[in-house]
Amino acid sequence: MSNLFPTYARWDVTPVSAKGAWLTDKNGKTYLDFTTGISVCNLGHVPDHVKQAVNDQLEKFWHTSNLFQIELQEEVAKQLTAASGLDLVFFANSGAEANEAAIKLARKATGRSKIITFVDSFHGRTFGTMAATGQEKIKTGFGPMLEKFEYVPFNDLEALKEALDTETAAVMFEVIQGEGGLNAGNPEFLRQTEEWAHKNGSLIIVDEVQTGIGRTGKPFAFQHIGLDPDIVSSAKGIASGLPLGAIIGKKELAEAFSPGSHGSTFGGNPISLAAAKATLETIFDESFLTQVEQKGDKLSSLLAEALSSVPQVKRLKGKGLMIGIELTEEAAPLLSAARQKGLLILTAGTNTIRLLPPLNVTEKEIEQAAALLIETIKEHACESTTKNG
Ligand SMILES: Cc1ncc(COP(=O)(O)O)c(C=O)c1O
Repeated sequence: MSNLFPTYARWDVTPVSAKGAWLTDKNGKTYLDFTTGISVCNLGHVPDHVKQAVNDQLEKFWHTSNLFQIELQEEVAKQLTAASGLDLVFFANSGAEANEAAIKLARKATGRSKIITFVDSFHGRTFGTMAATGQEKIKTGFGPMLEKFEYVPFNDLEALKEALDTETAAVMFEVIQGEGGLNAGNPEFLRQTEEWAHKNGSLIIVDEVQTGIGRTGKPFAFQHIGLDPDIVSSAKGIASGLPLGAIIGKKELAEAFSPGSHGSTFGGNPISLAAAKATLETIFDESFLTQVEQKGDKLSSLLAEALSSVPQVKRLKGKGLMIGIELTEEAAPLLSAARQKGLLILTAGTNTIRLLPPLNVTEKEIEQAAALLIETIKEHACESTTKNG
């Protein structure tokens, strides 16, 4: 019997080692990993230069506290501000913690308490971020939610306009809803939302926990649309698998986060930061990011071409190396079929297969994964067609 709370429906795969895009389980079976720990291991498993940076820091010191000047925090904050165009960073340990910080900062800076978020969004599992999340299933059974969040249908300008009022501290969104099904914000919608929010004295919070750190081919996904957010949250891929979260915000917000207003014992710990510095040096390089776009295009076009005649495939979604295949039926059964063939993939929402390969995946690995996935989808499509007549 497992001594773990059954919060996860775990796969029958027990990893014993992993390198790059490949993972080996305890039975010696190898898998091509197109999940990257859910957009975390963006440079693949155990990238050598990140491992070296972590080892070097392990030899120096592990933890002091945030009462000290931590040089690595300054250095990583410089990388994040330079890449985002924002000014100041607060370090946390996870995506939910980063979003908590964003919500607290927006409320304190504006003196208002309502946050508008969107239907099918996902922002985390703490009380604040669970309340921010626009999915009922995440909240069921947990009693009254933290006030005040209002959920607006994504890409619905009229509904947004109606919700925006003088109590609104911020509008918070993912540029592409990751957990919700890879639903992209319409660029015009997001730009108009920002314009109206700013006119109304409300802040824009962009949750880049899943879309950030090069995943879509830019350091942050909001940069594809030319938005001017006040706060951006980041986590997942920021430190290649070591726990780290961050918010990056405008300098005008500094006063609201004065000494004593917010904090975290482990937030910005030196080991994670050593990993982050090495990770970001690679990912925030322009030619690396161009390759992410090219690789994303290659994978998408291989899939689009091979799957265009499969009636169960509705459309391809996503950007860069965050790719969704929307089906006319539930996507979950395809995951175990793909695993049997040696390919690890995810779902997003109910009907979408989600691919999150490492950003440095090779052309050959893209071709191998595409072949395995196409085979899996076609076989499944044949079975469903036979079953349903
Ligand atoms: C967009 C988004 N925000 C927040 C979170 C929560 O991050 P964490 O699990 O690190 O708390 C996630 C996790 O999937 C996410 O995708």
